[in-house]
Amino acid sequence: MAIRDILVYPDKRLRQQAKPVTEFNEELTTLVADMAETMYAAPGIGLAAVQVDVPLRVVVMDLSDERDSLRVFINPEIEPLEGTQEYDEGCLSVPGVFATVERVERVRIRYRDVEGNAYEEEADGLLSVCIQHEVDHLDGKVFVDYLSRMKQDRVRRKLLKELKQAQAA
Ligand code: NI
Repeated sequence: MAIRDILVYPDKRLRQQAKPVTEFNEELTTLVADMAETMYAAPGIGLAAVQVDVPLRVVVMDLSDERDSLRVFINPEIEPLEGTQEYDEGCLSVPGVFATVERVERVRIRYRDVEGNAYEEEADGLLSVCIQHEVDHLDGKVFVDYLSRMKQDRVRRKLLKELKQAQAA
């Protein structure tokens, strides 16, 4: 296993459209293990493969307080069911920035595991928010896109400035 570099907004590679996984092989198992290690080390509650510059539809997540309940979603698809909810979202690719985003409250998730077995479940609350946030990544979207143009500019300037400072250090 290895920790991979997480792309930071406004890196253009975060705009990649991820392709569905078609081969459930050792390469996929390694990717998932690396993504989990990267997410736990960050630390974060969710990570999409696009964020480590791999344009495949793979998401890892752990919403537990104990950090011992890894969820893996391969080729996740979301069907909106009902309601709306607001949540103060953050993202490992947008460090130090949190903003309220409106999402669908209840969704149905269809996905596969690393072996290719298909599953379906309904979700609300944090799982619903998180899977919508991660599937956005797979479609080249970041939660910052939901903010006003002015706020987006502010976030972009802040992170570019931090990047320059880090490079100068
Ligand atoms: Ni994110």
